[in-house]
Amino acid sequence: MNVLVLGSGGREHAISWKLAQSSQISSLYIAPGNAGTDAVGINVDVNPEDFKAVKKFVLEKEVGLVVVGPEAPLVKGIVDFFKNDKALANVGIIGPSQQGAQLEGSKEFAKLFMQRHRIPTAKYASFTKDTVEEGKAFLAKMKAPYVLKADGLAAGKGVVILTDLKEAQAELESMLVNQKFGDASATVVIEEFLKGIECSVFVLTDGHSYKILPEAKDYKRIGVGDTGPNTGGMGAISPVPFCTEEFMDKVETRIIIPTVKGLKAENIDYKGFIFIGLIKVNNEPYVIEYNCRMGDPETEVVMPRIKSDLLNLFEGVVTETLSECDLHVDERVASTVVLVSKGYPDAYEKGKEIKGLHRPENAIVFHAGTKKSGQKIVTNGGRVLAVTAFGGSIDEATDRSFAAAGSIEYSGKYFRDDIGKDLLGY
Ligand code: AMP
Ligand code: GLY
Repeated sequence: MNVLVLGSGGREHAISWKLAQSSQISSLYIAPGNAGTDAVGINVDVNPEDFKAVKKFVLEKEVGLVVVGPEAPLVKGIVDFFKNDKALANVGIIGPSQQGAQLEGSKEFAKLFMQRHRIPTAKYASFTKDTVEEGKAFLAKMKAPYVLKADGLAAGKGVVILTDLKEAQAELESMLVNQKFGDASATVVIEEFLKGIECSVFVLTDGHSYKILPEAKDYKRIGVGDTGPNTGGMGAISPVPFCTEEFMDKVETRIIIPTVKGLKAENIDYKGFIFIGLIKVNNEPYVIEYNCRMGDPETEVVMPRIKSDLLNLFEGVVTETLSECDLHVDERVASTVVLVSKGYPDAYEKGKEIKGLHRPENAIVFHAGTKKSGQKIVTNGGRVLAVTAFGGSIDEATDRSFAAAGSIEYSGKYFRDDIGKDLLGY
């Protein structure tokens, strides 16, 4: 079968790397891909958000399955576009419908969904421009810290947590009235602050049954010791030691089952990944957010741990026979360390030549922001590479990732050398 993966990050390299191992693949295309996906498949110059261009390519190359990596095409309705087009009727697509993607595309939609299905999450209220004064009064009645969330997609920047009431009220005004995040903050969700430790749980569903993929912990801040501004993610570890069997049982019964059943009961077409951002508070799981795609860099530890054929699992999703598919998982620890460009997550440098990509021996180098420039590979994004390694313990896996990350060179290279260290006490 010919397969097309949409996207260009480390997540898409990891998915493509895993798909390329399937014996059932004829041609693997990645649109637009990066210098790493170029080594496991064929990069094509198609914009994932230009649905007509995607359709043209799919028909031309007789693609049988499309895997949507990022959220933007999903929230824009690529799955509905495929379902409503007769010429594409036989093409499988991994990802939820536009309505399903609202779990990520609208915080308010996600909150109401959780409320309807009694899924544990922080208490909240939502406000618009017309109710900004009520919002300020609501904040005044709450305890600090104050959690303000832009309803829509805001490139990962739409959540603001403040400890000062006046600042929180000013922020609410700026989001609602001054449209700080444009349309994305036309509605703002104000949430109760939950104190605990976070992890990412991934589910693959065909709309009826589901498989729980390996869980992971992501490191969001730029600085060592979880300091400084938020990034897309600086590293990840899987499995997560505090996700014990007892805890994961609670996650399954209280969150995963009601989510999958709730989508089905509401006739929301969902055939793809559900990424559940969780917080563990006193041993109890609460949903912080849903995403309608895999996480990045979590995918770079999740995919290597999946031993089963990924194309077979995707076919199970498309044909609604996922319950018949096997999912075997590598017991070892996988760690990934993200190498970023100087300046990231603010303005950063690009076009720096990367050397030593062949050096890591005990690691897999996934590309994120890279591209070919003649014979060279150069940096082309804030997050440049994700270096994944296995080990018998977190220490062993991360030591290998750090050594591999150290052996790759480009001007302005930075990575966090404390990924996984917080988990050693568990
Ligand atoms: P989100 O984009 O919804 O994942 O939020 C970004 C980050 O804000 C999360 O990863 C948490 O660290 C933090 N956060 C979001 N909601 C809450 C909450 N209710 N309580 C505490 N922290 C939160
Ligand atoms: N690593 C978090 C995310 O992909 O949203």
